[in-house]
Amino acid sequence: MIPRKLPYLYVIAVICTVFSFACQEPEQDMVYARDPHSYAKPNEVAVEHLDLDLAVDFATNKLGGTAKLILANHTNSKELFLDSRDLTVSKVLLDDSGAETNFRFGAEQEFLGKPLIVEISPETKSVTIFYESSPQAAAVQWLAPEQTAGGKHPFLFTQSQAILARTWIPCQDSPGIRMTYSGTIRTDPELMAVMSAENPTEKTADGVYHFNMPQPVPAYLLALAVGDLEFRAVGARSGVYAEPSVVGKAAAEFEDTETMIEAAEKLYGPYRWGRYDIIVLPPSFPFGGMENPRLTFATPTVLAGDKSLVALIAHELAHSWSGNLVTNATWDDFWLNEGFTTYFEHRIMEEVYGKNYAEMLAALSYQDLQKSLANMGFDSKDTHLKLNLDGRDPDDGMTAIAYDKGHFFLRTIEATVGREKWDTFLRNYFDKFAFKPATTEAFVSYLKKELLAGNQEMEQSLQADAWIYNPGVPENVALAQSDQFQLVEAQIGRWQEGASAKSIDTNGWTTHHWLHFLRNLPEGLDTKQMRDLDRAFNFSNSGNSEILNAWLAHAIVNQYEPAYPALENFLTSMGRRKFLQPLYERMAANPAMMEMARLIYRKARPTYHSVAAGTIDKILNWQG
Ligand code: BES
Ligand code: ZN
Repeated sequence: MIPRKLPYLYVIAVICTVFSFACQEPEQDMVYARDPHSYAKPNEVAVEHLDLDLAVDFATNKLGGTAKLILANHTNSKELFLDSRDLTVSKVLLDDSGAETNFRFGAEQEFLGKPLIVEISPETKSVTIFYESSPQAAAVQWLAPEQTAGGKHPFLFTQSQAILARTWIPCQDSPGIRMTYSGTIRTDPELMAVMSAENPTEKTADGVYHFNMPQPVPAYLLALAVGDLEFRAVGARSGVYAEPSVVGKAAAEFEDTETMIEAAEKLYGPYRWGRYDIIVLPPSFPFGGMENPRLTFATPTVLAGDKSLVALIAHELAHSWSGNLVTNATWDDFWLNEGFTTYFEHRIMEEVYGKNYAEMLAALSYQDLQKSLANMGFDSKDTHLKLNLDGRDPDDGMTAIAYDKGHFFLRTIEATVGREKWDTFLRNYFDKFAFKPATTEAFVSYLKKELLAGNQEMEQSLQADAWIYNPGVPENVALAQSDQFQLVEAQIGRWQEGASAKSIDTNGWTTHHWLHFLRNLPEGLDTKQMRDLDRAFNFSNSGNSEILNAWLAHAIVNQYEPAYPALENFLTSMGRRKFLQPLYERMAANPAMMEMARLIYRKARPTYHSVAAGTIDKILNWQG
């Protein structure tokens, strides 16, 4: 309604509105940070939506079809810059007209692949790229039936983080750039396809699946898995996907998922992605977990049978806030993803399993941190939270520093300002930066303004800048508070003084007590001592992957031969890098074990994903 007495004000208001809309059109509402790991120029042209249509070819190990990209051209640019690596492009069409346009590739760089540059006009709304991935695409692992639990059907999964999305989709592969996506995946009728999107729960008759991800996500969260999958619900908005012979075990292991979601929401606000499902992949999956939105990808090595390793689910779930909602602007800010998530993971564990349990996990996290600092050097620049990965593979920054130093920095903030204020601040932080990238600097300035608010004393006692821009760990660190591990240490002491392993009092020990026990055994055990432990606790046959991994490290260092068959079996039956890396490193450190390491690796390498094989190649100096 027009207020009769103030028509001129109304007219002015209309003019202003029209004018400001007209001005906004070519303008953009954000400025993207420079990302040294992407060729994209999002301040000129940004991709806002991706529509994929891909056929999965298990005969040639290729994905092929089209990627239609919807554009926002902020600067009337005539070129669109995309990331690509090992992609073959046959043609590019403009809009829906069917008109072909020119494209070219720029020079290739190590890790980064090459820019795909497409000619557009300022009016171009979309481009459709006809392309095919290479069988060697680094993100994609194609598994033969023998590498699956069922042994009958092939399997495929992708791992896009950090900069591997560009090996299966031409896209703007920078964590600061978000797009919504939709897609069609065409596969064999006996297989199911799932993505980091709204997913089917049943196979279709024709093997064609449609997907939609209505919330904007960065390219590293694009994910696809195809295999003989079955779905089982575990809660109202959560469930598991796995091969038929694994799905029951997975559902039992992850039965607390809904409780975890509720705990997370109570802490830091609503879960914004609709469903939270988990897919348990074949054992070659190179990570413990990957926080693909709506569908966490997980290793089967967490299926311990007793829920003892489900902190991993708390971790990937926590990424639904830290990482997927508020995203590190570049890989130099990786701690904003992983440090916040590790902190949040421990808070979820505390809510669901109690403070004693969570503090034990925190003590283990601190041990991991100390070990990494010792390995990397206490004054290495790579122990800064804010990294500088220019000219390097972002994988180099994926160390315990981001996770555990980040976690202990946030614990220290909590201890400095008090839990209540800190939790309120964090909830607001997730709201304010929701669906946006965050730089370390933006976080620090928000922290200083909203939480420290000019309180000089607090600011000084926190030493945020020292935590972020200096090496090592400041002395104000808020340590874990657990007396549980003293009990374990006392038992190690008794054993060292001659008590038999069988007489060790392990009553009430959890997996975490055992891990502390194994990590704190003295170095240089002889065969008699190793056998004493193995006979008492049957470590070489442990069904708990973390315990087995910690034990096998001793077996290598102490050359305890009775465990070698278990070692070989472990290294050839799963491809989780966190387990492979320390075991191969220890073998490589001992010339007497190098030959065995190479023999095992020759057999295992073809079963590993490229990111795991890349790491082990370096350790063993592998030339084939
Ligand atoms: N996002 C990471 C995995 C990742 C990081 C993949 C960097 C590629 C590059 C995931 O959330 C993660 O941290 N996984 C951990 C498990 C966690 C419990 C610490 C892993 O895989 O071990
Ligand atoms: Zn993580």
